[in-house]
Amino acid sequence: MRIWILLTAIFLAVAGTWPIRSGGGASPTLNAADSPSVKTTPVPVDVSMHDFMEGVFQGPYRRLKASIAAEPKDNAGWKAIRSESLILAEGGNLLLLRKPEKDAEKWTEYSIASRDAGAEVFKAAKKKDYAAAKKAYQTMIVSCNACHKQFDGGKNQLAP
Ligand code: HEC
Repeated sequence: MRIWILLTAIFLAVAGTWPIRSGGGASPTLNAADSPSVKTTPVPVDVSMHDFMEGVFQGPYRRLKASIAAEPKDNAGWKAIRSESLILAEGGNLLLLRKPEKDAEKWTEYSIASRDAGAEVFKAAKKKDYAAAKKAYQTMIVSCNACHKQFDGGKNQLAP
């Protein structure tokens, strides 16, 4: 008797799940917008370039400028330089998501130069090499200003 109850239960379970497994009408279907590759593509937040620079670049730039003005005396000082330079370097990658329609190649060039110089600041700070960090920082500011010169009408020429 118990074997029949068991077999009936198995039958009901299989019958119940079959239509779903074979993709029957009730199951959700994937469309292109749901596909994993579309979902994982970075999408910039819809804000103006002004709000982006003010919100993402200005704070780290001001803090880095203060932190790197003199050789850090302790770990906290080096950590501040590492953190702010890394944020600005990754910010360079974010700029690549915000290319303008006109002169996109120049925009790309400045973004990469700024990112790579920011990464050099980080690497030098990791080694506590102040001279190298300062040099890379100055190179970074040159690339910030080069983009501002072309795309911000020469405004926001930052002092290193
Ligand atoms: C690829 C181009 C590009 C690069 C590289 C770039 N910027 Fe900018 N930045 C802009 C543009 C465009 C504006 C002007 C935005 C506006 O006001 O319309 C701007 C404006 C600014 C402003 C002024 C924001 C405000 O409140 O008015 C600051 C500060 C700034 N950038 C910091 C930086 C720093 C620091 C770097 C380098 C680490 C950098 N930017 C690199 C394009 C760039």
